[in-house]
Amino acid sequence: MTAVEVCKLVDVPVPGALAVVVQGTAVAIIRDSAGHVHAINDVCSHADVALSEGEVEDCTVECWLHGSRFDLRTGEPSGPPAVTAIPVYDVMVVGDGDDAVVLVDITVNAARKPAVEGA
Ligand code: FES
Repeated sequence: MTAVEVCKLVDVPVPGALAVVVQGTAVAIIRDSAGHVHAINDVCSHADVALSEGEVEDCTVECWLHGSRFDLRTGEPSGPPAVTAIPVYDVMVVGDGDDAVVLVDITVNAARKPAVEGA
């Protein structure tokens, strides 16, 4: 499968998240405090709540329900109650300025790849 366009880069706050659905999968497009773009599965590994509604700080997102914090590069939780990593997807930014768009490939687990620069 190939990457699909999911949103405009300007629609994702810095730091912050935008919830999208990619081929039936809930995905959170997240820009970290440095503006780097990440794509993660938008369901906490502890319970069925959206991580896109959590707080983004540095390169992590905090689950709003019980407070587990997930690394946006690896999907690994830094502490309980979550103990399982969430999927991290391949993401890229194409274009410049207000025309830049975000593409995601949910078939590729991008854990431990370098962060994507925001335009
Ligand atoms: S639902 Fe996310 S940490 Fe409990």
